[in-house]
Amino acid sequence: MSKRRVLTGIKPTGSPHLGNYVGAIKPAIAASRDANADSYFFLADYHALISCQDPIRVQRSTLEIAATWLALGLDPERVMFYRQSDIPEIPELTWLLTCITSKGQLNRAHAYKAAVDANTAEGVDIDAGISAGLYMYPVLMAADILMFNAHAVPVGRDQVQHIEIARDLGQRFNHVYGSDFFTLPEAQVDETTATLAGLDGRKMSKSYDNTIPLWDEPVTMRRLVMSIVTNSQAPGDAKNPDESHLFSIYQAFATAAETAAMRNAYQDGISWGEVKLALFERIDRELAPARERYRHFMTNPQQVETLLLRGAERARAQSRPLIVRLREAVGLRSVAATAVVATESTRTSDVLQPELKQYRERDGRYYFKLTEKSVGVLAQSIGFANGQDAGATIARIKLGEAAIANDELFLDEVMIARAPAGIASADVSAGLAALVAQEAEARAKKSAQA
Ligand code: TRP
Repeated sequence: MSKRRVLTGIKPTGSPHLGNYVGAIKPAIAASRDANADSYFFLADYHALISCQDPIRVQRSTLEIAATWLALGLDPERVMFYRQSDIPEIPELTWLLTCITSKGQLNRAHAYKAAVDANTAEGVDIDAGISAGLYMYPVLMAADILMFNAHAVPVGRDQVQHIEIARDLGQRFNHVYGSDFFTLPEAQVDETTATLAGLDGRKMSKSYDNTIPLWDEPVTMRRLVMSIVTNSQAPGDAKNPDESHLFSIYQAFATAAETAAMRNAYQDGISWGEVKLALFERIDRELAPARERYRHFMTNPQQVETLLLRGAERARAQSRPLIVRLREAVGLRSVAATAVVATESTRTSDVLQPELKQYRERDGRYYFKLTEKSVGVLAQSIGFANGQDAGATIARIKLGEAAIANDELFLDEVMIARAPAGIASADVSAGLAALVAQEAEARAKKSAQA
């Protein structure tokens, strides 16, 4: 059984703050250690371009965010960790999806609608200042998700509509092109994760300018924590923890025992200054070791770059074969293969004569070869422990389920056959397409006779 795939995209704009840490980063890293899930984490830098046209900031923020996740314990060996723009299959899939997206659905997407509403309220043209990038945002996001066949996407409430659009586009594509190319994703909204209060008591958010940056120097963090607003109760007065932002922030970092002790201290009239100091110390204790690692990555960006490129290589082992299958499905194919199925009177045998042959080797394993009369061996399989597995694989190849990437044939992302040296990828594609067409023709004939 394959595991549940959980995918998270992080838009690299700006620097992370404590609210991001408590509300998103910490729970996501904890979830990535679940042995029953395969986690995908990526830096959504194509998305960042929509709101940020400052190249230095895009680059800097990508490094900061990558260093943050690595410093806080994301293990790039265990999860897929990559940068969106290193996966060229994503923009390619975006276009395939764009062509089956109804424009009206994008008109109704929240982010675009909010921008239109703001323009309407100001009495200017409804699309004033709105880029096509903002408009297309949900399609790019759908490509991120569908590309890796994610089952679950943990998001905040504001992103749920985007996951619904991804589901919808996946379903439509499957329907239009007649196969289950895509897994349909579900939004996973965690109501239990804390939203952290900011300096002024409202939700900590860049848009309120009330954040505490995650990696500030301890002196700065201390100064910011000391500036969190409180009421004017005096030292010695019993205080209500359930109406205190300081308490709720403390709770987001502290253990249950520490939280209970702080609750008692409130009853006993601890001063706001003492609470703030305890809060600062608690946060600092949690972040100090990670801060060292963060500094290390920030001063050794080459290490981060290497990890990201390695992650992209691993991710592309999955995205490449899928995009080959999708291109084939929509008709972006070798024209030689198209000619084969173009008209009923054109017989497969007039163009290419592919064959898939199974045989057994002296090693006791079962193999098959894809051959073509004039070219010879196009692909040679790996060995199968039994004939049934080899046979089932052959049947699926004939149904057109195999994908080709880099002269290799894949089924369910597993490499099953490889072209011998000197055989061009285009020949393998053409031979495979001709085989699939030939089989389809044979099936059609059979069902016409029945
Ligand atoms: N839109 C997300 C945000 O603003 C970032 C994102 C891009 C994303 N692609 C994604 C999240 C795919 C989850 C899945 O936070």
